[in-house]
Amino acid sequence: MADQKRQGAAASAIWGGRFEQGPSEIMERINASIGFDKRLYAQDIAASKAHCEMLVRQNIIGEQDGKSIIEGLDKVRAEIEDGQFEFKTALEDIHMNVEGRLAEMIGDAAGRLHTARSRNDQVATDFKLWVRDAIDELEAGLKQLQTALIAKAEEHAGTIMPGYTHLQTAQPVTLGHHLLAYVEMLGRDRGRLADCRTRLNENPLGSGALAGTSFPIDRQQTAATLGFDRPTANSLDAVSDRDFAIEFLSACAITATHLSRFAEEIVVWSSESFGFIKLSDSFSTGSSMLPQKRNPDAAELVRAKTGRVFGALIGLLTVMKGLPLAYSKDMQEDKEPVFEVADIMGLSVAAMAGMVTDMKVDTTRMRTAAMGGGSNAVDLADWLVRTLGMPFRQAHHVTGAAVKLAEQKGCRLEELSLSDLQSVHADITADALACLTLDASVASRTSFGGTAPENVKHACDEAKRRFL
Ligand code: ARG
Repeated sequence: MADQKRQGAAASAIWGGRFEQGPSEIMERINASIGFDKRLYAQDIAASKAHCEMLVRQNIIGEQDGKSIIEGLDKVRAEIEDGQFEFKTALEDIHMNVEGRLAEMIGDAAGRLHTARSRNDQVATDFKLWVRDAIDELEAGLKQLQTALIAKAEEHAGTIMPGYTHLQTAQPVTLGHHLLAYVEMLGRDRGRLADCRTRLNENPLGSGALAGTSFPIDRQQTAATLGFDRPTANSLDAVSDRDFAIEFLSACAITATHLSRFAEEIVVWSSESFGFIKLSDSFSTGSSMLPQKRNPDAAELVRAKTGRVFGALIGLLTVMKGLPLAYSKDMQEDKEPVFEVADIMGLSVAAMAGMVTDMKVDTTRMRTAAMGGGSNAVDLADWLVRTLGMPFRQAHHVTGAAVKLAEQKGCRLEELSLSDLQSVHADITADALACLTLDASVASRTSFGGTAPENVKHACDEAKRRFL
């Protein structure tokens, strides 16, 4: 590339007053954000309309100019939505593409729109509006996933499965209880998004390039028009703040972690070895070589996409960490990670909801698995404490001896005879054995937040009241 300057390329009509030549083709390419920030078009136009109405009301621009600007902006929006709009790299970004087209449509009046405004407060405003919409959409998706989980939990309030710690069978639990654990996680996720939305909801528009403006603008008015709670309090902060994007990505990273953990369980549960669930055909794929395979690809991809979500968060933190106040062009790199994550989250949440709704549960396999691993040992210990008044530490010891005896005899704890149990401790009576069945074990866990079917039914009602 001998000469990368584009001979004869015109200086930008929008900011090129002091330039003799246009940018080189490479400069144009590295500088342009229109390829991705066109996704901000609706927010950009809404914010421009709010700004224009305010300028008219404050007598900063004339009513007639204001009217043609508003009408022109509506036409630009219609063109974009009809796919008629030609996005131009030479115009760098969505802000200048919209303004450039407005100028073509209405002429000189378009030049008045940018009074008392900079692209710096403009982009901060547009992006906040976009993230706010993304939060609302994700929130709604998470609520749908909770709805699907609660419905399954109700259906399986009494379905017994192994509960694990260290992925070793620990104690029997109910599937409904297990699913409601995710409902709680998603509830916290929604809370984090709501917090982020509340903190985000201050209007940067009117902060100018960094210092505010000499025009008598009304920032309360634009804030109200755009649904912000109030204007931002400091113009330097307003144009250089991307906390809202970082916070959105952080909240998404935690949500993605939850989805990934659940996805992992779906992968494990649907494996041949576990066989706890069967995913529907709509949420499974086949193998090109192995005809018998049914793969949980959607769950695997939800698990994997978490990596990209984390990457986006770390990426944006890294972009921001060295920037002096106020705006730097580095900040243009804020959008792609946020757009990508919003897309990933929407798809992942929908895929999880689909899998949950469609999955078939093999209650027999789950129940059989729950019997393994001496999962009722603590029920014997609890009986010794409750009935014989034994200190728990001693009861743990006595139960350990019973477990060992069962192991020696090659049977399960509840298959020991009463005299076997009495050889371990003479005071054990027949009703100890009755505590050792799966159903008795699970039904006894009635403490608040416990796994008993009766609790789970109640917890489903509570979850509906709290979350839906
Ligand atoms: N496209 C830019 C961005 O996304 C808009 C702001 C540009 N401001 C400037 N002073 N060059 O950040």
